[in-house]
Amino acid sequence: MTNDENSPQRIMQMLTITLMNQKGGAGKTTVARALLSAADARGLSCAFIDADQTGGLTKWAMRSAERGLWSDAIDAFQTVDASEVEEIVDEIIEDGKTYLLIIDTAGDASQDHDIFAAVADLVICPIMLSQSDIETSRGTANYVYRMRARAEDPSLLPEFRIVLNRVSTRPSKGDQELIEAMHSKKLIGDDEDNPVEAMKIVGAVLQEREAYKIMDREGLLGRVLTRHNETALAFAKNPKHLSNALFEADQLLTACLEIAGAGSAEQ
Ligand SMILES: Nc1ncnc2c1ncn2[C@@H]1O[C@H](COP(=O)(O)OP(=O)(O)OP(=O)(O)O)[C@@H](O)[C@H]1O
Ligand SMILES: [Mg+2]
Repeated sequence: MTNDENSPQRIMQMLTITLMNQKGGAGKTTVARALLSAADARGLSCAFIDADQTGGLTKWAMRSAERGLWSDAIDAFQTVDASEVEEIVDEIIEDGKTYLLIIDTAGDASQDHDIFAAVADLVICPIMLSQSDIETSRGTANYVYRMRARAEDPSLLPEFRIVLNRVSTRPSKGDQELIEAMHSKKLIGDDEDNPVEAMKIVGAVLQEREAYKIMDREGLLGRVLTRHNETALAFAKNPKHLSNALFEADQLLTACLEIAGAGSAEQ
């Protein structure tokens, strides 16, 4: 996204990350929750747009707020209407208060997805490490690739990255081979049969963790941890299952922000 540098209200460049995968259930909403949790724990001002009609992210925000494990500093929007999404993005930029915007989308491909991707700096496609997930993520990757190829100024279009989700704590030899194949084989291009690029995979992953189910049930991960610590005896504070997940989410946020362009924004 580009900001008008002359506007006194704009204190920083907003970065927008859109979660997209034509396959359902691969972890879009979980990655969205993890990124929002990490950003909240860092004190970054965030917003989300839930562009999935099932409203998973919105319901999570409401559940979290009821438990006191949400942040008033996170602006929440829900719409599946692409032009409304554009308006919301413009408003958020105009306000100049939000650093990170997360857009969660439904597990399909519609014309609206063009807009959900086009307003982003980075499109993330979470996948589980399986041959069939790799194949479906190629569809999403090719779709963004073709958008770039069609655009007059491809530099305005988002980066695209795969994020590995539900990674096993002990990756098997087969898992390693799948990762190597993604890195080495050309899988993306205008034409599926003549791909020109290998998949680009974010260096940070989310493991299969009970903590992400706790986050789903209760609220922002850092706040779940803080709440736990308020009543826990000294030896039981900062339990590893929560703190490791928050650390991992924070690593993923760092990696995503770097790709989305935070490096240049923070100069
Ligand atoms: N890393 C993880 N560890 C543990 N559970 C996970 C993890 N990632 C996802 N899940 C669980 O898998 C299920 C599907 O994940 P999620 O809802 O994030 O997928 P999605 O891509 O948003 O699905 P949809 O396309 O239906 O919106 C959820 O119940 C979620 O809690
Ligand atoms: Mg979802």
